[in-house]
Amino acid sequence: MSDSHSDPSIRFTLHMLARGGDSDTFAEDVRAGLGSRPRFLLPKYFYDGLGAQLFEAICRLPEYYLTRAESEILGQHSDEIVAAVCGPVRLIELGSGSADKTRYLIEALLRRQKELHYFPVDISDVSLERSSEELLHVYPQLRITAYAADYFTALQALADAGVIERQDKRTIVLFLGSNIGNFDEEESREFLRAIRNMLHPEDGLLIGADLKKSVDVLLAAYDDALGVTSAFNRNLLVRINSELDADFDVRKFEHRAHYNERMGRVEIHLVSLVKQTVRIRAIDLEIHFEEGESIHTENSYKFDLEQLGELARQTGFSLEKTWHDSAQRFSFNLFAAV
Ligand code: AVI
Repeated sequence: MSDSHSDPSIRFTLHMLARGGDSDTFAEDVRAGLGSRPRFLLPKYFYDGLGAQLFEAICRLPEYYLTRAESEILGQHSDEIVAAVCGPVRLIELGSGSADKTRYLIEALLRRQKELHYFPVDISDVSLERSSEELLHVYPQLRITAYAADYFTALQALADAGVIERQDKRTIVLFLGSNIGNFDEEESREFLRAIRNMLHPEDGLLIGADLKKSVDVLLAAYDDALGVTSAFNRNLLVRINSELDADFDVRKFEHRAHYNERMGRVEIHLVSLVKQTVRIRAIDLEIHFEEGESIHTENSYKFDLEQLGELARQTGFSLEKTWHDSAQRFSFNLFAAV
């Protein structure tokens, strides 16, 4: 390939589009969320340095089956998954993180085509640099153009760069890990429509989605015996303390997970164990918590195939094919652009 080169740095480009000065947005989102009733905080703020590491630990917990189930699917079916999308492709991944699971697909694609252009998108430039360096060493036929950006900014940048206009290849967009489950219904549709707008008919979106199942299994996954998910959740308060000069006593808040049957989602909350007042000095805010009052920090929606088919139809795709892990806990889906 023309871009093939033994020096990995020549095959790597990083676009830094993550907005700097994010602390203002964080402060405003904290003010809005904690000032509302019921109180809430946005889950995107889980992932500071420590939060990202706690999430990696969650993925290794015995109770958190999602990561292992998705890896099993990719490990066993990547050739078939790749075969379901015809012709040579380029690969875009939204929220690439460590890109560990992506390797299965990269390898399957490189068994079918001589070269691959991979476009990982992640909010963390550190993750992008680290994962790209490893991938470029292992796969000399790989070229990487990375975007440190939120999803919508990156989709716009990819469209502006004309990457997808070149019709010599199909485009596959990857969205792993059931990250779709952290959006509410309208956000999911908006997000998938933004992806669809950038694609051409017959391009594909590969999307991992966790399935509805017994409440016991779900709750164990979000309230593990070691307390890692509790630490991940309460780290939001640690982050507010350090970035916004607040005085949350983290021990006075408890992690709670519950399954909201009507909405089909696991909710996680931080519950105040006592009546207490917290000050957030950077935004000049004082909050009074009643004993038992909660801050809603995340939703994790669980799906069935009918809902996934409907989501595809509503956003300009058709659900072409679904793969499952052996325990049928998780789904991996090909949405074809129509
Ligand atoms: C990133 N996301 C798909 C995870 C989930 O399962 O909803 C985040 C998470 N929250 C608690 N544990 C894991």
